[in-house]
Amino acid sequence: MQLFKRNRILRKSAAIRSMVAETQLSASNFIVPLFIVDGVDIISPIESMVGYNRYSINNVVKEVKLLWQLGIKSVLIFVKSPDELKDNTGKEAWNPDGLMQKSIKAIKDAVPEMVIMTDVALDPYSSYGHDGIIKNGDVANDLTVDALVKMGLSHAAAGADFLAPSDMMDGRIGAIRNALEENNFTSTGIMSYSAKYASCFYGPFRDALDSAPGMGDKKSYQMNYTNRLEAINETLQDIEQGADIVMVKPAMAYLDIIREVKNQVTVPVSAYQVSGEYAMIKAAANKGWLNEDLAILESLYSIKRAGADLIATYFAKDAIKLLNQ
Ligand code: PBG
Repeated sequence: MQLFKRNRILRKSAAIRSMVAETQLSASNFIVPLFIVDGVDIISPIESMVGYNRYSINNVVKEVKLLWQLGIKSVLIFVKSPDELKDNTGKEAWNPDGLMQKSIKAIKDAVPEMVIMTDVALDPYSSYGHDGIIKNGDVANDLTVDALVKMGLSHAAAGADFLAPSDMMDGRIGAIRNALEENNFTSTGIMSYSAKYASCFYGPFRDALDSAPGMGDKKSYQMNYTNRLEAINETLQDIEQGADIVMVKPAMAYLDIIREVKNQVTVPVSAYQVSGEYAMIKAAANKGWLNEDLAILESLYSIKRAGADLIATYFAKDAIKLLNQ
């Protein structure tokens, strides 16, 4: 008798396919990035992120209520700081009455159970559009870490659940964890952007926040995309320094890195499907060259399958609608 394995048996019907599906996606896997601007009653479209908006605080609160109803558990907050508040120290970043701090409080007030994650990096506040303080033509690591600690503490004081340092300075996770301990913020967590690459796919995000570097690029702190082992080093160091959740960013061009990280760590792994990934799918779909719904699901399932427990994505609402169909 000839042994023959008929692989197509397990693909015969939708019912069988769903029984043996290896990867599941649900609303609680998604982290929703939100862009907040100063003012009242504002919903302002982002040109390079079709369908995505910046919100004033009163409108972001409405959006967060809706997200909670949809089953989303977590939002990741970014603010667009007015030009007149930008300087090289980034000091607006730890203003207790700043836009970020007010936003955290307003969201916590309205939807206390929503897990609030906050971006910790100086770029929206930097007159140079860099993630840290510029000295002698480059971002000064240790000066920047001191600033990030102040920024992180002010977010914790406002009620943030997780600080999400996206700056890629050396030693910032340990410094922030220590400062949280010393100031009694013992239940504030850290989601570290541990393997963050210097990527062209952040372009639309920098439009959204008007935060593109006015000078040079970010290659002296964000990682070189030729590298794989470096991602493991960065991630293990961040865990040792106290990161509760680690992240790989971007996602789609870095699925190999997500898998490597997932295989090496025992903390939850997140991945960020960044603005340029969103923009590519939107643009192709608008041209009629891709089916948007199918592209959304395929991209998100791929990121999950690669090993991401959590996915920060601008498609979260669309994905939930599709998953519920
Ligand atoms: C800021 C930051 C960036 C993103 C998240 N936090 C941009 C950058 O590093 O230049 C990108 C997110 C996206 O593109 O969706 N430090």
